Amino acid sequence: MQFQKAELVISAPDRRSWPDTHLPEIVLAGRSNVGKSSFINAMCGRKKLAYVGSTPGKTRLLNFFNLDDRYMLVDVPGYGYANISKQQLLQFGRMMEEYFNEREQKKGAVILVDARHMPSEDDHTMLEYIRYFQLPIIIVATKIDKVSKSRRAHQLSLIRKDLQLQDGEQLYPFSSATKEGEEAIWQAMKTILEA
Ligand code: GTP
Ligand code: MG
Repeated sequence: MQFQKAELVISAPDRRSWPDTHLPEIVLAGRSNVGKSSFINAMCGRKKLAYVGSTPGKTRLLNFFNLDDRYMLVDVPGYGYANISKQQLLQFGRMMEEYFNEREQKKGAVILVDARHMPSEDDHTMLEYIRYFQLPIIIVATKIDKVSKSRRAHQLSLIRKDLQLQDGEQLYPFSSATKEGEEAIWQAMKTILEA
């Protein structure tokens, strides 16, 4: 989708830095390297809104992106890379809990998984975590361009089964390379944001 304005408002370590806005928010979470920054850029029609890098960002911050003063995307740091310290893990947990417990603007979440692989233990944990807060959830299977056309339907159904997706938890294939899925996912996100 094209926005007049798409900007990073703040990278917040804790609630004192959360933006003082009342825009509806949707949280984006996914394993490190799943393609989350690419997803944000593609979905917002920007090239460099979110950082696409080869080294996983070690910063454990929530990034708040303001889209046309209508919506806020909240980017959660990628999880699941190996050399995270216990200290960082604790801080990540605290930051998430603070957000999910206290942020009233939150409307739902997008969880990104890699279309090529079965969801990881961390993906399961994140899904369970967000289910607990009873928020609407969209699952996005990224890098679908890397899965051959003949295997896609099967691969998606394996992922759906593995995550035991419930009614209302939709799985959408997506590629930031081809933009496949972009419109359907925006529709789903808008439905959540405007509910
Ligand atoms: P971290 O922030 O480092 O945890 O990663 P991230 O989840 O933000 O992933 P990022 O968008 O940086 O992408 C990681 C790598 O996957 C990059 O090399 C991207 O170019 C590549 N990538 C992301 N999305 C796609 C996609 O849809 N298709 C293909 N083929 N490659 C992708
Ligand atoms: Mg990233």
